[in-house]
Amino acid sequence: MINLILFGPPGSGKGTQASKLVEEFNLVHISTGDLFRFEMKNDTPLGLEAKQYISKGELVPDSVTIGMLKNKMTKHPEAKGFIFDGFPRTIPQAEALDQLLAETDQSINGLFALQVEDEEIIKRILSRGATSGRADDLDETIIRNRISVYKDNTLDVYDYYAAKKKASTIEGVGSIEQISNRLRKAVSATI
Ligand code: C5P
Ligand code: MG
Repeated sequence: MINLILFGPPGSGKGTQASKLVEEFNLVHISTGDLFRFEMKNDTPLGLEAKQYISKGELVPDSVTIGMLKNKMTKHPEAKGFIFDGFPRTIPQAEALDQLLAETDQSINGLFALQVEDEEIIKRILSRGATSGRADDLDETIIRNRISVYKDNTLDVYDYYAAKKKASTIEGVGSIEQISNRLRKAVSATI
């Protein structure tokens, strides 16, 4: 089993690159942001709860996000491994993920952090907002809050896996192809 975390600030290209890695390494892609958006689109109780946070660029409470992730993972008992995109975003989420994987004698093989500067990210997200249909991609104040939340809460997750010698950084600027080549090399060297 191979379990990877694609890490990085909002708009760093995690989703785009995850889709490429999934094909290459035959993994199941889990984007917690996409899962929340699906629930919101269907006006489910989970979607309605998540919307209160997502609309402000805040994090959905850990218990809710972890519950949703567990539920998704149990739907894929056949998986050869997972690629986690946008999760874990807090230390408790990372601990819960490690514990969950440990229950089936698995672990995270590596965390790959895409590095992109703030101003580039804001440009990218605003241009994605023109077509993504995401309210949180259209408002610069919300985008800046998402970046602060990343710095205040999520960056710790990098250190958590770095302490286990499982974290590496990838230059996240360039063509999609260039970035996926860098990632592929880094992933291949890890597994
Ligand atoms: O990962 P993505 O950028 O698509 O997530 C969109 C939003 O979903 C985040 O800004 C946050 O509000 C919420 N989210 C969360 N916890 C996660 C993943 C996403 O609160 N682990
Ligand atoms: Mg994404």
